[in-house]
Amino acid sequence: MADQSGTAAGFLAALEAIRAEAERALGAAQDAASAADLRIRLLGRNGELTALLRRLGSIDAADRPAMGALANALRQEIETRIEAFTAQALTISRERQLAGEVIDMTAPGRPLRVGRLHPTMIVERRLREILHGFGFEVFEGPEIETEWWNFEALNIPPDHPARDLWDTMYVAEPGSWEAGAPRPAEDGTILRTHTSPVQIRAMRALTPPIRVITPGRCFRYENVAADRNFEFFQVEGLVIDRDTTLADLKGMLEQFAKALYGPETRTRFRPGYYPFTEPSVAFDIGCLVCGGIGCPVCQRTGWVTLLGAGMVHPTVIRSGGLDPDEYQGYAWGMGLDRIAVNRYGIADLRLLMGADLRFLDQFAEGR
Ligand code: PHE
Repeated sequence: MADQSGTAAGFLAALEAIRAEAERALGAAQDAASAADLRIRLLGRNGELTALLRRLGSIDAADRPAMGALANALRQEIETRIEAFTAQALTISRERQLAGEVIDMTAPGRPLRVGRLHPTMIVERRLREILHGFGFEVFEGPEIETEWWNFEALNIPPDHPARDLWDTMYVAEPGSWEAGAPRPAEDGTILRTHTSPVQIRAMRALTPPIRVITPGRCFRYENVAADRNFEFFQVEGLVIDRDTTLADLKGMLEQFAKALYGPETRTRFRPGYYPFTEPSVAFDIGCLVCGGIGCPVCQRTGWVTLLGAGMVHPTVIRSGGLDPDEYQGYAWGMGLDRIAVNRYGIADLRLLMGADLRFLDQFAEGR
């Protein structure tokens, strides 16, 4: 066949050949990528149709506009068909992909790690619950006190031997530690050794009749061992009212012990000594382990001390800003860690202050 490319007829034939090629190729194309290849091959800068258009100049001037229009129309047509093909191909491949993705609705969910209450806090909540029932509200005080609040206000004068009952952690006078000669802070700042200073704060903040419990952290300079730690929790109870007597205290504590340990719980009062109560008592419950026969836990006595208590000393009532001739009351203080240890049969109290989740996770109660 003679070269006709310089003639209108040859140009038309070449256009037809390109159209046919586009049709054939799109019919055979598998995916959007082969359509893109086709686009480059026919319409790209070095594509077949582009090359043909460049030869437009060699055609008779009279035929040129018509040929150019036909070529552009074909370009547009091929463009449109490739776009339509591509859109469809993409939809199909997305559908295939989704069909290949399997979601198993019956698979178990990933476990969420849920925290638990600390055993000491489980005990604290239980005490709050019981004592709320007896009409007590929670009143909290600071963990860092001064000697005045921790001792003087509680009828323990400076240098009085009674202070030795509480092995105190003193905060160092600023600079003295760095200077290599630490000494107690001059303003008497200490870590509180018990929750009893909160008695004073409650009396000053509230108007009698007062019924508060004061849970919180305390600190003592202890020879740390399985049964004693330098950091522990107490709950103090305080009642201030008119005509309050030791009989009220006894009745209250007996009911409290029975609520905590069950109605069969045996209780007894022994004489005790605290500078801030007069008279003072120690309150025991029958040993829960041996039932009173005597065992290592109760040191073969059949009894375990639950708390210390007494009638609030007149000097303490005065520290609280009240008149002891008008108001009387009783107070008690108990260690939460001890109660937790007894309740859960924990051999070493220090475990409570550790962060070992293998240990702490065993106490599921407070979820
Ligand atoms: N504060 C005493 C202690 O820590 C306990 C106590 C409180 C005793 C209130 C009597 C009254 O040992």
